[in-house]
Amino acid sequence: MPTETVLTKEPAFSLSNYEVKNEDLPAFRDMQFAEINELELDHPGANDTEYRTRRDYIASLSKRFREDPENKIIDVEYTPEEQKVWQIVATKLEEIQAKRASSFYLDAKEKLGISNERIPQLSEMNRRLGKLTNFRLAPIEGLVETRGFLSWFSYRTMLCTQYIRHHSRPEYTPEPDIVHEAIGHIPNFTNKDFADFSQFIGHGARVATDEQLEELGRLYWFTVEFGLVEEAGEIKAFGAGLLSSFGELEHAFTEAVERRPFDLKEVINQTYDYSDMQPILYVIPSYSFLKETTRKYIESFGKK
Ligand SMILES: [Fe+2]
Repeated sequence: MPTETVLTKEPAFSLSNYEVKNEDLPAFRDMQFAEINELELDHPGANDTEYRTRRDYIASLSKRFREDPENKIIDVEYTPEEQKVWQIVATKLEEIQAKRASSFYLDAKEKLGISNERIPQLSEMNRRLGKLTNFRLAPIEGLVETRGFLSWFSYRTMLCTQYIRHHSRPEYTPEPDIVHEAIGHIPNFTNKDFADFSQFIGHGARVATDEQLEELGRLYWFTVEFGLVEEAGEIKAFGAGLLSSFGELEHAFTEAVERRPFDLKEVINQTYDYSDMQPILYVIPSYSFLKETTRKYIESFGKK
């Protein structure tokens, strides 16, 4: 597992202060990771030397971003083969999303200029997000431990991978990739309530006890990754793990899944299996409800 991410530790912050200027950000160069280039043996690209080299190269651009004093994101020149993988996945997901995704999400995708034709660059989405909700994206070369990853949300920043899944299985990836980030996560940050909610989770992660961190991880899982929202009497998906997976998105609306009304106490205590289809999902009434409920919850941290 990667080593602990280095972050400024200061528990005193205000949940009413959402403004984070670039100069408030901790130095990206202080982040340290170990074994970030290791691919799990069950990764479809694990035995493809060419894929591994390419993935490592794209990952190295994230490292250069961190070392650059100005933290300028380096755009990836995606190959025609990588673009093809994107086109296949994006087109198929769009079909299912038209019926299942929240209307807010569908609008947001358009606002950010995310199309089925080409892989969007983090830099261009960053510019648009900055104007909309003062949220930002920073490239990262792989999975980071929970506290380090979540803590960056307190700076209205999400760490995002840039490489793309292996072409042999366009429907599947065992690790985050640009499809999961750009189609799953990023559009949600155009919503101010969702961006604020993410920031609260980040604040929480910085001061949470280990036990609270586990609870936060579950809250993140059942909302950011697998959340459903009620919209004009219908249930729609907004979680990234649903929106970026054909299988999960279809499965979420079958009878095999129990869709329960969101209850914070229940969610933070609900265990899950990340390697299987989700049997229980939670439906939030609105993003503002999620934001306010999370604010109260995070404010209780440190008071026990
Ligand atoms: Fe994710």
